[in-house]
Amino acid sequence: MSQDIIAIDGPAGSGKSTVARAVAQALGWTFLDTGAMYRALTCEALHEGVDVHDQGAMGELAASARITTLPRVSVNGRDVEDEIRTEPVNVAVSVVAANPLVRSSMVARQRELAGAQDVGTVVEGRDISTVVFPNATLKVYLTATLEERSRRRGEEGVESVERRDLADTTREASPLRQASDALLVDTTGRRVEDVVEEIVECLKNITSN
Ligand code: DC
Repeated sequence: MSQDIIAIDGPAGSGKSTVARAVAQALGWTFLDTGAMYRALTCEALHEGVDVHDQGAMGELAASARITTLPRVSVNGRDVEDEIRTEPVNVAVSVVAANPLVRSSMVARQRELAGAQDVGTVVEGRDISTVVFPNATLKVYLTATLEERSRRRGEEGVESVERRDLADTTREASPLRQASDALLVDTTGRRVEDVVEEIVECLKNITSN
């Protein structure tokens, strides 16, 4: 039996992780932060001295990397929970995520992880509704103003968030875009609880029909 999936996409700071985690908790489902997977792989490249621009070498690293995101983010047995949010990783992760060889390994792993659960999964990222789970039970596209998204990202700063937005939306491999059948939710100035309620209500409407 295939499990239910809520796919949540959106730009940096749109509230994906917070909202996805809270929706999963409200439903008793599991949660998958796919950005953390690209970040963990980036940590491994920096740690092992692999050039993130070398597409072949990064593809090999991705194919063999053992990445977990729960309960903590780790790669090849090394805990990188704190390192994944540091500036060197913020900068290099866009290059890593634009590599099609890396993406195919990550996408396969994401499908495997969600498929192995005995409950539904809330999956958040950039290409979840468009590529990873195009048949998700519910697709959501979260957004917010650049000011609010930068504020939420704290130290990362407006320039870094803007640079990542540009890289994520203009890359050739699976760019960030809203799926045509996704529920659009602007989280600017909204409470997490309200956004969660809107998503859970929408899921109920879909599954009761
Ligand atoms: O959501 P985040 O900021 O942790 O994501 C880190 C980077 O990984 C982001 O710049 C885009 C990329 N990413 C991606 O390309 N596809 C995903 N499914 C998730 C993240």
